[in-house]
Amino acid sequence: MENLIIAIDGPAGAGKSTISKLVSKRLDINYLDTGAMYRAITYKCIEEGININNEEEVIKICESSDVDFRNNQIYLDGKNIDIEIRRQEVSSNVSNVAKIKKVRKLLVARQREIASESDAILDGRDVGTCIFPDARYKFFLSASAQERGRRRYEELKSKGEDVDLDNIIEDIKKRDKIDSTREVSPLIKAEDAIEIDSTSMSINEVVDYIIDAVESDKIR
Ligand code: CDP
Ligand code: CDP
Repeated sequence: MENLIIAIDGPAGAGKSTISKLVSKRLDINYLDTGAMYRAITYKCIEEGININNEEEVIKICESSDVDFRNNQIYLDGKNIDIEIRRQEVSSNVSNVAKIKKVRKLLVARQREIASESDAILDGRDVGTCIFPDARYKFFLSASAQERGRRRYEELKSKGEDVDLDNIIEDIKKRDKIDSTREVSPLIKAEDAIEIDSTSMSINEVVDYIIDAVESDKIR
């Protein structure tokens, strides 16, 4: 029997990773955060002083890196960098790394490899359109930019980061624009994905909606 694949795509701060983790626990399946892998390469470029706009150099870094995702944590060359990849400096550069065709090719191959090991829920920008176009369940999670910015602001503030709401909203909008207008697998709702506008939905409401959709389909 084929593995169960649930694809969750959508713009920054829509709640994809929070919701995917909860669904993975409830259904007892693996979770893969595909965005964390682009963040890991971006982090390494910053650490090594690589100019993100120099595609050749970024590709070299990607080719020579071991990126893994285990137990909901991201590993780069064997080291857990789950905290480091959430830094604002990584967030503001990651979309320029993610638009490089060869980087996408390398990471998509790795994502397919990791997710094919068992039933899985994946979140990102191109899960339903490119990584697993035949996934049985596809959801496109959205929310207004204002609300997504507010959520990210609250999250960073609670971690003690010095953040400015307007800057965060601007950064989110900038990232959405690069992600949805890039040439290779842009952020777009797959035709057969179910859209969930979570602007005024709680985390649990979204999780229940997804679980209901999957379970009611199984019974059919
Ligand atoms: O959590 P947040 O929505 O802020 O971002 P993320 O999921 O960690 O993804 C970071 C960035 O990686 C996105 O803004 C995209 O540029 C890129 N990405 C991508 O191109 N394709 C994916 N499947 C996942 C992320
Ligand atoms: O992965 P993505 O960037 O799409 O979003 P996230 O990191 O899962 O969620 C961003 C923040 O919004 C987190 O702090 C979530 O707890 C919060 N959130 C929320 O308050 N209400 C929702 N319906 C979804 C997420």
